[in-house]
This record gives sequence, C-alpha cells and structure tokens, in this order.
Amino acid sequence: MMRRLSSASETADLTEAVDLAEAYAYPAEGTWLRANMISTLDGAAWSLEGRSGGLGNEADRQLFSVMRGLADVVIAGAGTARVEGYGPVDPGPGWAELRAGRTAVPPLAVVSRRLDLDLDGPLFTEAEPRTILLTVESAPADRLQQVRELADVIVAGEHAVDFALAVKQLEARGHRRLLCEGGPHVLAQVVAAGVLDELCLTVSPIMLSGTASRVLNGTALAAPANMTLEQVLEDEGHLFMRYLKA
Ligand SMILES: NC(=O)c1ccc[n+]([C@@H]2O[C@H](COP(=O)([O-])OP(=O)(O)OC[C@H]3O[C@@H](n4cnc5c(N)ncnc54)[C@H](OP(=O)(O)O)[C@@H]3O)[C@@H](O)[C@H]2O)c1
Repeated sequence: MMRRLSSASETADLTEAVDLAEAYAYPAEGTWLRANMISTLDGAAWSLEGRSGGLGNEADRQLFSVMRGLADVVIAGAGTARVEGYGPVDPGPGWAELRAGRTAVPPLAVVSRRLDLDLDGPLFTEAEPRTILLTVESAPADRLQQVRELADVIVAGEHAVDFALAVKQLEARGHRRLLCEGGPHVLAQVVAAGVLDELCLTVSPIMLSGTASRVLNGTALAAPANMTLEQVLEDEGHLFMRYLKA
C-alpha cells in the first residue's frame, strides 16, 4: 500500500518540533554503526567545489552535530578529512547531558593507508581525546612512527583496512556507538563488509549534474544491501531519512 508521509502544508520547524537526540538515539546496548551522508536530488555526494559541507541547510548542520554528540567515535576517510579540513570534533549545545560519563567530544578515527595527513594540524596537535588512525600493516613505516607519537594507531588489515576488524577493534576500546561520516569510498567498503547498521541520508532539494560521486563509490556489491525505512523528517524541503539494515 502506498502512503503519503506528509505534504508541504504540514511541514514543521524540525529544530523545534523534533528532539533530535531522541529521534537519533542509538540502541541501548550492543555495537551499532551508523553512517551520516548527504546527497543532492540528482545523487551528487559533493558540490561543484568538491565538498559536501555546503549541500545542507541549518537543520542538517544541527543534525550533523547531534549525531556526533551521540557517538562514541566518528570514523572518516582520509579523503574526507583532507578535503573538508577536518579538525578535532567541536562540542555542540546540550552535549554535556548527551555525553554524561563519556569524553567531552568523541575522537575522530581517520582511515588511511598512505598517512598523507597534516601532522602539524589541529587534528593531531589539539585533539583531546587523541585522534585515532585506522591503518594497515603496509603503511609507510617512517610515517607510521611519526603518527604513533601524535595519535592512537589501530592496524586493521595488511594492505587495506578490513572494516569488520576495525569495528571489533573500536569495540574493544569501549566504542560501541559508531558514526561513519564517509566519504563515499570508505562507506562503500563499510557496506561491503556487512557492518553498516543504519544509513542516515539527507536529500538536499537541489540538482547539480556533473560528475560527483554518489554516497557509495567503489566496487559494486556482490548482492544489493537491502535497507528498511525507519524515519523521515523534513525541513525547508530537505528530507532526513533513517534507513536500517533489513
Ligand atoms: N555527501 C556526503 O555525505 C559526504 C560525506 C563525506 C565526504 N564527502 C565528500 O567525499 C569526498 C571524499 O570522499 P572519497 O570517497 O574521495 O574519500 P574517503 O572515502 O573520505 O577517503 C578515501 C581515503 O581513505 C583511505 N582509505 C579508504 N579505504 C581504505 C582502506 N580500506 N584501507 C586504508 N585506507 C583506506 C585512503 O586514504 P589515503 O589516501 O590517506 O591512504 C583513501 O584515499 C569529498 O569531496 C567530500 O566532500 C561527502
């Protein structure tokens, strides 16, 4: 049966009408890996300048912050960290309550093989808790030694991070509420490894055409990853969808 979820005349102020921390609460127990991604109406995962930061509206930025506040660790590919200029996570309003009993902000876990990251930048010099590097045995040895002095290193694979192993290693450090912020190359592998529990996808009401990737970019999956729709919120024509692993 086809259902009408809402009409334009019913739109409410998302930030006032919905308690985002409640709407995006992690399960009370167990390890859970959520991804948060944004796409334009025509499927582009980044804007004409090559970044995804400008695709969303204020509600999307608030949601991005709340999801970080809820998470024990934020996983991001080195490509995203480089392009988006990732620094340590900034705390948001209301985080003291959200993070009671945890560190003030979650650490970032950056996925990288080459370790071509700015080791003099705030991600390594200012992060508290320290940034985590999810890397591989074949990472350049000299670079790895430098990184070990500035960050926590998790080796989770020989030549490529094995995301099932990475999740287990993060879990072993007490991180059970996991948030992956992409990018598309990392997310494609997370899905292929069968460890993604939830995709939170914002669809922004613009079209760009061009050659931008979609939110997963990599080798085609051996079988489709089926997801079930859990929730849809709306603000200024942006749709905020939660899909759970079927
Ligand atoms: N639409 C969205 O929601 C969204 C979200 C995030 C990012 N983005 C956009 O996506 C773009 C970046 O995404 P991307 O897909 O190009 O890059 P990405 O997935 O963020 O990062 C790719 C990098 O991660 C490392 N990596 C990936 N898989 C690995 C593995 N199995 N083992 C070891 N290292 C691994 C490699 O780093 P090294 O090269 O250091 O070895 C690789 O170059 C940017 O334009 C960003 O704005 C969009």
